Amino acid sequence: MTNPIQIAIDGPAAAGKSTIAKIVAEQLGYTYIDTGAMYRAITLKALNEGINMASNEEAGELLLRTEIDLQPTEAGQLVFLDNEDVTEAIRTQHVTKAVSEMAAHSLVRERMVELQRQLAEGRGVVMDGRDIGTHVLPEAALKVYMSATVEERARRRYDDNKNRGIDTPLAELQAEIATRDKMDSERESSPLRQSDDAIFLDTTNLSIQEAADKIMQLAKERLK
Ligand code: CDP
Ligand code: CDP
Repeated sequence: MTNPIQIAIDGPAAAGKSTIAKIVAEQLGYTYIDTGAMYRAITLKALNEGINMASNEEAGELLLRTEIDLQPTEAGQLVFLDNEDVTEAIRTQHVTKAVSEMAAHSLVRERMVELQRQLAEGRGVVMDGRDIGTHVLPEAALKVYMSATVEERARRRYDDNKNRGIDTPLAELQAEIATRDKMDSERESSPLRQSDDAIFLDTTNLSIQEAADKIMQLAKERLK
């Protein structure tokens, strides 16, 4: 059997990264790792404790007494914050709006990247995030930078929310996504950007299946 490879999928919010990464991981029998969940988990704790998100020191102190764990299961990835299952709790708009400020702290990023590399060690993984190809797994055999227009991405999140019984106005979602894209791209510490060796995939007019097929084809070429 060929040795398993690492697949890095980066890009802005609602480009389709996690949906497609999960399909690809399942087809290859690899572990799917959603790194955004880690930044969301520490943000949830910061919000619950009312810590000052702008302070690198407060974020660092919070990290010292926080345990974050991702557990891949048959039913998908579970996220634990201090041994409590927060898989659902980290998806609220409240957390989504605050996460980019928390994720900009270099101390937070260093700790998360360490955990992400541990999770990927010695196994086939499909990891999605913002800095996977550029920083977390620079040696990944396949790097994809996935994007779509901001209008399409907001529409997708609108549908996601609606399916979960949440009615957020489309314009509010588009503004939130645009703000997050800007903050993630302009931060100093490992910003969102396409790695020089990544393949660009515009999913605006692709179905989920078409996008997954494209990545599977690229993965198979690297597994030969
Ligand atoms: O699912 P969605 O695209 O809305 O976001 P996510 O992947 O859960 O990531 C939430 C936030 O975490 C992003 O907007 C980034 O601020 C941060 N993040 C990051 O900085 N680096 C990563 N590798 C993953 C996420
Ligand atoms: O992980 P990321 O934030 O990049 O996006 P996602 O949560 O995987 O995708 C956001 C939504 O767009 C999901 O409901 C997907 O089913 C949908 N999607 C789509 O309609 N068409 C695609 N080509 C990719 C994703």
